[in-house]
Amino acid sequence: MLLLAIESSCDETAAAVVRDGRQVLSNIIASQVDVHARYGGVVPELASRKHLEAISVVVDEALEKAGVELDDIEGLAVTRGPGLVGALLVGLSLAKAVAFARDLPLVGVHHIEGHILAALLEREVAFPFLALAVSGGHTHLYRVDGIGRYQTLGRTVDDAAGEAFDKVAKLLGLGYPGGVQIDRLAALGNPKAIDFPRPMLHKKNFNFSFSGIKTSVLNHVKRQDGPIEGEALQDLAASFQAAVVEVLCKKTLRAAEEEGLKRIVVAGGVACNSGLRRDMTALCQERGKDVFFPPPILCSDNAAMLAVAGEHYLAAGRCDPLDLNALASWPLDRAGTLL
Ligand code: KG4
Ligand code: ZN
Repeated sequence: MLLLAIESSCDETAAAVVRDGRQVLSNIIASQVDVHARYGGVVPELASRKHLEAISVVVDEALEKAGVELDDIEGLAVTRGPGLVGALLVGLSLAKAVAFARDLPLVGVHHIEGHILAALLEREVAFPFLALAVSGGHTHLYRVDGIGRYQTLGRTVDDAAGEAFDKVAKLLGLGYPGGVQIDRLAALGNPKAIDFPRPMLHKKNFNFSFSGIKTSVLNHVKRQDGPIEGEALQDLAASFQAAVVEVLCKKTLRAAEEEGLKRIVVAGGVACNSGLRRDMTALCQERGKDVFFPPPILCSDNAAMLAVAGEHYLAAGRCDPLDLNALASWPLDRAGTLL
């Protein structure tokens, strides 16, 4: 099928045209980063307004770039949740309007399901596999037995990994969004300079906690006489990143081993992190696991990622009703049962 996919759960307005859940013909992303940067984080009301301004333009551009007309589209996949409800409603409303006007089937997709299945746009990854979903709102380990079949093995008990990156960047005065800035500085610093804690690393379960590392960074900053700059800032970024990455890598590998899973997919915005990509790849190689990272453009928020699940569900005959509502929170392991 030729699908139009629409994503507006946070601060990117995105639309994509994807053929057969596989071939990405266009993947347009309009970022609102500039709007939110001055507030140091996403302002939900502003996000909704900016989505409204951008959504039709982004959809038109996605169709144009793909070289297709709305008449060619055979179905719609749209993020139903989780996310900012006002932001979600913009994409969902547009998708429903198109579905109604053109009498097309529509399916609401879980945002994290989209992130995880983005890996399948690039290559085959056989089920079952372990998925580490690391974004601004999620740090979850899932066992994935098929599309729609997700079992949560562990999750963060406080901040998400991306949230920790953003908060640490903010307290270091690096601006928003902070993950990219820390990644850039970390590449220049010494990861062993400061020994930040590795929370829950040795706990038997697969949960994570990142707020303690963030507090340690804050305490470190408070202990300094003046502003942290230059090499000291690079070392701090590298040491913070090393702590987060070590916990993510080791717990993921342990979960894969315990579940007897050979394949690991790392997904979500934090999967762009170069330290995570490098260390997870090395550790997986050492332990005989195959690891898959989508390319960075498919890791951060985009609409193409929704088309894998969208294609699967629509092909299976699922069609959501036009009174479908957005879900601000929506556990992924219940997404399948809601279908
Ligand atoms: O998946 P995503 O684009 O949006 C959500 O669903 O939340 O993830 C955004 C998160 C932000 O917290 C951002 O700082 C983080 O991903 N991020 C990174 C990097 N690029 C984006 N974190 C660490 N290193 C990066 N290179
Ligand atoms: Zn996301």
